[in-house]
Amino acid sequence: MNKQILLKSRPIGMVTTDHFEIVADDILSLKEGDLLVKAKYISVDPYMRGRMSDTDSYVAPFEVGKPIEGGVIAEVTESKHPGFKAGEFVLGNLKWKENQVVNGSLVTKVDKNLAPLSYYLGILGMPGLTAYFGLSNIGNPQPGETVIVSGAAGAVGMVVGQIAHIKGCRVVGIAGSENKAKILKEQFNFDEVINYHEKKDMTEAIKKACPDGVDVYYDNVGGDISDAVLQNINKQARIILCGQISLYNSTETPVGPRPQVTLLKKSALMKGFIISDYVQQFPEGIKQLVGWIKEGKLTYNETILKGFDSLPQAFIGLFKGENIGKLLVEV
Ligand SMILES: NC(=O)c1ccc[n+]([C@@H]2O[C@H](COP(=O)([O-])OP(=O)(O)OC[C@H]3O[C@@H](n4cnc5c(N)ncnc54)[C@H](OP(=O)(O)O)[C@@H]3O)[C@@H](O)[C@H]2O)c1
Repeated sequence: MNKQILLKSRPIGMVTTDHFEIVADDILSLKEGDLLVKAKYISVDPYMRGRMSDTDSYVAPFEVGKPIEGGVIAEVTESKHPGFKAGEFVLGNLKWKENQVVNGSLVTKVDKNLAPLSYYLGILGMPGLTAYFGLSNIGNPQPGETVIVSGAAGAVGMVVGQIAHIKGCRVVGIAGSENKAKILKEQFNFDEVINYHEKKDMTEAIKKACPDGVDVYYDNVGGDISDAVLQNINKQARIILCGQISLYNSTETPVGPRPQVTLLKKSALMKGFIISDYVQQFPEGIKQLVGWIKEGKLTYNETILKGFDSLPQAFIGLFKGENIGKLLVEV
């Protein structure tokens, strides 16, 4: 049977496996321009939690009873498109299906000889580009400055920390376990890592880890962690609003300190962005990331679960901190 995974119901609060349903799917016949593709790697990403709710956002919600969709690397098994042949690999925003028919105009060819296929969903894909453009364009880190990143052991965060290091900054990470802290320091050149589960007073912990204050904050998580970082920013600090994962399963609008007074007193910048804002510059970003990988300045980690059926569990794992680096499913 060809399996697909549907959104069974919309979660209120924490997403569980009950919100997904695995069912059989018919494979349609190919029209001119179509490809039959077989999923190889499927990405799970925090933003997909937003699409499970029926709220207004920068991308439309998933429909109940319809397949989930997201980043997929797939092998072409049959082609009626002149630009593709069987055996080639493509990247696309595809349905959570083992096999599916897609028009060739909706996917991009990827080269498995240039980088491991899974990298096109991670360091050379959306998370890597998010790290690169958010940090470079909004953070504008300068040599000698202190850059702090939350969600530091994740797909985006571990790239942010390494780029900040390449730029000559002191790099402090915030992550959710001692093991993550150890890996970030030993393998990814972080100067300090704070395990937020172990610290009762995060404002003090950040002060201690950043004795010269915070010049750039790359915010992946929001909530209490970001409130504490804000207490430690320097004059002219830049705060990059990339993600707010600590709030994605909240049922209430969060209430916290109002940041305006701090931003005003510190002449600081706080700016949000969505990676598609930089779509025109993606080739430049990929070129730079590939360059740093080749020079040995940038490395990466992946947490890969096996089997199509593990997709819901993998997705939920993002909110439990189960990944180090990019979380993926190998079908
Ligand atoms: N703006 C954009 O265009 C854009 C693009 C891509 C991603 N993003 C955002 O960037 C952030 C990171 O994405 P990613 O793909 O790199 O995910 P990720 O960091 O690989 O995975 C999620 C991590 O978030 C941490 N986390 C989960 N719940 C948390 C909580 N309640 N409080 C604090 N940390 C929590 C966990 O690590 P710990 O064990 O450390 O808690 C978990 O491993 C997300 O917020 C995502 O939405 C934004």
